[in-house]
Amino acid sequence: MGKAFFPTAIWRVFRYAIWRLRGGKAPLLKPTPAQVVIREKMAALRDDHWPIEIRDFGAARVDGPPIQRSSTVARVARSASKASWQAERLAWWLERMEAKHVLELGSCLGTTTAVMAATSSRPLVVSLEGDPGLAMRSRWLIEDLNEDLNEDLNEGFGAGPGAPTDRPLRVEVVEGEFSKTLPEVVGRHRWDVVFIDGHHRADALAAQIELIRPQLASTACVIIDDIYWSKDMFGGWCSLRDDGFFSAAVDEFHHGILLKGGTFAMQNKGDA
Ligand SMILES: C[S@@+](CC[C@H](N)C(=O)[O-])C[C@H]1O[C@@H](n2cnc3c(N)ncnc32)[C@H](O)[C@@H]1O
Repeated sequence: MGKAFFPTAIWRVFRYAIWRLRGGKAPLLKPTPAQVVIREKMAALRDDHWPIEIRDFGAARVDGPPIQRSSTVARVARSASKASWQAERLAWWLERMEAKHVLELGSCLGTTTAVMAATSSRPLVVSLEGDPGLAMRSRWLIEDLNEDLNEDLNEGFGAGPGAPTDRPLRVEVVEGEFSKTLPEVVGRHRWDVVFIDGHHRADALAAQIELIRPQLASTACVIIDDIYWSKDMFGGWCSLRDDGFFSAAVDEFHHGILLKGGTFAMQNKGDA
């Protein structure tokens, strides 16, 4: 655990207290039938103690090659994957945006990828991941879900967000470092939703947004994870929120949402 961890953790708790005092509340949503199945897969991953080697391209590495470290599936699922209720909150935004094309930076084990792909419009989710083992596991998860989602669910559930249908989840996992893969894939579609969840550094975030902005659909949202992960990340979030490109910003503490186009009103703007 680095020297910076404790001051950063205290700062995060302090920011959470401010966020709550200002009326911030984490909304809990009832999971859809598809999300219930994905929750079961997540629970299995959290109990899977299979050892894995990770090539970490994230913020812990300053520059140079990725940091190699040993871990287990369970440890990664518990520490890096978004909690199911938070992933389901993202799905709520995808439903509102009627997303057809979604870009994710940081697949990890593919669990949030799956939740996003299982929204009712069955968007195409293109998900970028630097670690080859995690990229492979994300693909497995989607294949696995496509095999049994319909099997398990097609009995008795009606239409509605997340309802099982005969349409498979559409996910493409692209392996490689973001600085290489993002320029390659960003021009492929007009993105309705972009979820940025990897390389938690303000400079990396700004560079990614620079590439993504021209490729956003006329009404779109960019979800940035862990905006309170560090002072640096919070500064990066504040700069984007305040630079005038986006029409509204929503601070949900665990992630921030920047909205483009539409008739969004600036909300929950917060102070730096
Ligand atoms: C916090 S995890 C993503 C969690 C996932 N979105 C979820 O909700 O379950 C971040 C992932 O991004 C990947 N990553 C971080 N920085 C990267 C970079 N610069 N290039 C490629 N992958 C990167 C890591 O390997 C890790 O799997």
